[in-house]
Amino acid sequence: MSHPASTEQAERLRIHRLTAAAGDDFAADVRRGLTSPRKFLLPKYFYDALGSRLFDAICLVPEYYPTRAEASIFESYAAEIVEKVRGGARRVTLFELGSGSAAKTRRLIAALLATQPRLTYVPVDISTAALEESANALLGDYEGLSVAAYAADYDTALPRLSENFEEGALALVLFLGSNVGNFDRGEARDFLRRVRAALRPGDRLLLGADLKKDAPTLEAAYDDPVGVTAAFNLNLLARINRELGADFRLRDFRHVALYNEAEGRVEMHLESTRAQTVRLAALDLEVRFGAGERVHTENSYKYSLDELSALAAETGFKREHIWLDPAGRFSSNLFVAS
Ligand code: AVJ
Repeated sequence: MSHPASTEQAERLRIHRLTAAAGDDFAADVRRGLTSPRKFLLPKYFYDALGSRLFDAICLVPEYYPTRAEASIFESYAAEIVEKVRGGARRVTLFELGSGSAAKTRRLIAALLATQPRLTYVPVDISTAALEESANALLGDYEGLSVAAYAADYDTALPRLSENFEEGALALVLFLGSNVGNFDRGEARDFLRRVRAALRPGDRLLLGADLKKDAPTLEAAYDDPVGVTAAFNLNLLARINRELGADFRLRDFRHVALYNEAEGRVEMHLESTRAQTVRLAALDLEVRFGAGERVHTENSYKYSLDELSALAAETGFKREHIWLDPAGRFSSNLFVAS
C-alpha cells in the first residue's frame, strides 16, 4: 500500500479518471474476441489490480531482461539523456504513456530535478490502482514534483496532454518498456503519428524498444520457469470469471509463448488442453473450445535499429540519439518532433 498522503502532498496531485466506460468495452471486446473464428483477447485487459502486480513480478524474473536492460540504460545515462532532451530549453514537462509502477522513471525524474527546481509529471495508465500508488510514492520522495495523472487508455488521454503544456517548457513523452511492441507495425506508425499530433515541433519522445534477437532468449523471457508470465496470461481468464461471471477452469488452459520470426514478434496464447464449453453469464454467451485450440492474447513486436529510425522518419520525428544496454538487447531512442 502507498503511504497516506499529507495535505501538502495531496495539493501536488490531480487524477483525471477517464476510464468510466471501460467496463462496457471489456464485455464487448471479450465477446468480439471469443466469438471470432481465430479467438483473441486484447492485452490491455491484463492490467487489473492483480494483473498489474503480476506484471511488476515479471519485471523481477531473471529471464525477462527488458525491464532491467532499460533500467541499466537510465542508470548509466540519465544525466546525458536529460541533457540531450533539454537542448536549449529552460524547463521540461514530463509525460509518460503506460507508466505502471514508474520504477524506471525515477532516474529520469531525479535527473530532471537536478537541473530544474520543479517538475510536472503527467502519467497515463489504464490501471487507476497503479497510478494512485505510484503517484503517492513519487510525491513522497520528490519535493519539487507535481503529478497530473490520467487513468485512461492512450487514445483518450493523448488529446488532453496539451492541458499540461507549460509556458517556456518543452514536453518529453516517455513510452518505455517496449510498450510499443503491443502494436503491430502499422498500428505503431499510426499511434506515433497521433503522439506527434499531440506535440509541438521540438518536443521529445523517448521510445523504449526491445530489439530482435535469437528465439531461445526471447521465448525464455516470455515463458519463465517460475510461471509468473503464465500466471499473468491466465489471470486474463480469471478476470473474465470475476467481472463477467464466466466459469473458465484455469487448469484446463495452458500458457504458450513463441517467437514468430517471420513477423518479428513474440506471441502469447492460452491453449485449451481439452474440448470444453465455457459460459459467460454477463454476456449470455457459451463458447466452445477444441482440444489444443488457442486464444491469442498478446503480440510483443521486436525491432531492429534500422526499423526504429524508419519509424521516426515515417511519423514526423527525427531520431536524435540511441542508447543501448551493455548486452545490446534493448534500445532507448530519443525522437525529436519535426
Ligand atoms: C508491457 C507490453 C512491454 O510485451 O514485453 C511481459 C508485456 N507480456 N511479459 C512485453 C509482457 C509478457 C510487455 N509489455
